[in-house]
Amino acid sequence: MAFNVAIDGPAGAGKSSAAKLAAGKLGFIYVDTGALYRAVGLYSIRRGLDTRDEESVVNTLGSISIELKFIDGAQRVFLNGEDVSDAIRTPEASMGASNVSAIPEVRDFLFELQRGIAAHNDCIMDGRDIGTVVLPDAEVKIFLTASPEARADRRLKELIKKGETADRQTVLDDINKRDYQDTHRKTAPLTCAGDAVYLDNGELDLEQTADRIIEIVKEKM
Ligand code: DC
Repeated sequence: MAFNVAIDGPAGAGKSSAAKLAAGKLGFIYVDTGALYRAVGLYSIRRGLDTRDEESVVNTLGSISIELKFIDGAQRVFLNGEDVSDAIRTPEASMGASNVSAIPEVRDFLFELQRGIAAHNDCIMDGRDIGTVVLPDAEVKIFLTASPEARADRRLKELIKKGETADRQTVLDDINKRDYQDTHRKTAPLTCAGDAVYLDNGELDLEQTADRIIEIVKEKM
């Protein structure tokens, strides 16, 4: 049976970097489920649709095929055969993903894909509803978070490192807006599962966060 680790938490908590690092050290695959929502959002954006318009987003689902491939341990996401792993990382795609993720049909559409991967692989899967909805029986559940300010500062550093221009207030506003949307939507809102370990990494760096995840996993193995 596959060993599943569910990591949920708000945008910018460093889930993906820490989960990726921890998964590599544990020999698990790392599954970033946000990429799936981003791919659905990107499809609508490219067609000039409003990602908040439920009906038009739902109508696109029949034309979308999404696949995850794991190349040298790194996840790549394919939208109708095209590798969109980089194209989904823009601020527009982030907000589009948050918008489409509030639509129940979109969540249903992506559910089986996530379940199938977890059933067949030892993995760390991160997202917003992994411990609560997608993998309620995961062997380990972690809720990884930090204050909005700490998360905004990290995101700002990442953007600057990539050579992009951004100001702190815009990044913080974006985080607060996404937090609000992700925690207040009707379907599968972001919340800490009752049986999850709550991990605030505001004072931890990437390595320390990954080490703490590994410790929590090893305690349960
Ligand atoms: O983790 P991320 O920033 O790449 O996620 C993008 C958006 O997708 C986020 O605003 C919320 C949504 N999401 C979700 O609703 N459920 C998940 N399991 C993963 C992401």
